[in-house]
Amino acid sequence: MSEHFDVHGGARLVGEVEVVGAKNSVLKLMAAALLAEGTTTITNCPQILDVPLMADVLRSVGCEVELDGDTAYITTPTELSHRADSPAMGKLRASVCVLGPLVGRLKKAVVALPGGDAIGSRPLDMHQNGLRKLGATSTIAHGCVVAEADGLHGAQIWLDFPSVGATENILMAAVLAEGTTVIDNAAREPEIVDICTMLTEMGAKIEGAGTSTLIVEGVDQLHPTEHRVIGDRIVGATWAFAAAMTRGDVTVTGVDPHHLELVLEKLRLAGAEVTTFDGKGFRVMQPDRPRSVDFVTLPYPGFATDLQPFAVALSSVSEGTSMITENVYEARFRFIEEMVRLGADARTDGHHAVVRGVEKLSSAPVWASDIRAGAGLVLAGLCADGVTEVWDVFHIDRGYPHFVENLNRLGARIDRVSSAGDAD
Ligand code: EPU
Repeated sequence: MSEHFDVHGGARLVGEVEVVGAKNSVLKLMAAALLAEGTTTITNCPQILDVPLMADVLRSVGCEVELDGDTAYITTPTELSHRADSPAMGKLRASVCVLGPLVGRLKKAVVALPGGDAIGSRPLDMHQNGLRKLGATSTIAHGCVVAEADGLHGAQIWLDFPSVGATENILMAAVLAEGTTVIDNAAREPEIVDICTMLTEMGAKIEGAGTSTLIVEGVDQLHPTEHRVIGDRIVGATWAFAAAMTRGDVTVTGVDPHHLELVLEKLRLAGAEVTTFDGKGFRVMQPDRPRSVDFVTLPYPGFATDLQPFAVALSSVSEGTSMITENVYEARFRFIEEMVRLGADARTDGHHAVVRGVEKLSSAPVWASDIRAGAGLVLAGLCADGVTEVWDVFHIDRGYPHFVENLNRLGARIDRVSSAGDAD
């Protein structure tokens, strides 16, 4: 059985939408629960496919996990397995975040190489180098990262690039290492601040969260906590782009607008009227056809690579020409091939794309290649004439809770259609 969305073009999105916890935070917070024996409670969890998958990963190393609505209860036993190589591992990228906690607690881990979106090369060299600096050996054998240490000690670690996943894994090993670890050129994403907050609540000693230098003073053990996941800035931004593209008026709650300052500024430049509500949300109203704006993706606080498809989609219906530069994942421009099917006037050259806006897109069958590309195609379909079929929508379900329901409540008309047989 495969599913696709029928997206009816021509909607103007109006109303209010609530954003819940961030996918790219909750999955790491679930992994952090491995660091403390007992029951950790995580609230504001999004109801997306990746959360039960991560629960399966944790169960495979011996945890009990109960998912009850937006709350996850994770009970970590005294005796954990160091082998995380269940089939769930290959279904999402965040599964690799059990590596740091397992090495931290057990001083050894065998962790299957993760899955996740096909958005370009996603090596683990910085994760491994960081663990080596902390005193572990780390190799790749039979499809797994194998790490082992007699004991972990603090170290000075410089990352070549502020990798989100490497920062998280090194951090989660370092909190239980002996002595002081300094992670330089660390990622600064709000999700990193969230995990630092939770680890601190669990008894870890971390300074510098949200800056490029994290200083971790190792402790002997951590204890469980109850923690609320931060709102999903990428989902919040998706609604902001949806409002701008459909010349709509959408109020987004549950997300901190400080996490989206550059995004909201770009939308203002495109002609949107943006109001922010401190710590709570924002409103985006787009009175006229958007004007073209250039976008450059970079680690936070730069413009997120996860939002690049929305930048392309907005540019494709804006007045004028936009240049979009992708600096993080080279294969993310694959999305543009699908946009061209919808009538976008776009071309790529290396890590740049030039998009000349057209008045209206034209409906066609299109295929989602990852979570954000899928959501971007749905938004583009709202600006096309006719009915756009978006296929492989399981990608969207991995990252967006109640995506279709939320869009329909805002005035879109999208049907989820199940059909027997292969969608290809
Ligand atoms: N990189 C290396 N070596 C490493 C690690 C990363 O070269 O050891 C490179 C990557 O190839 C990439 C860059 O560093 O070019 C950034 O990768 P990063 O490690 O920051 O990404 P990630 O942790 O694997 C997370 C999100 C992605 C998001 C990126 C960048 C999760 C589960 N995933 O991935 O989210 O695009 O950070 O912000 O947190 C999504 O949600 O749709 C998604 C793909």
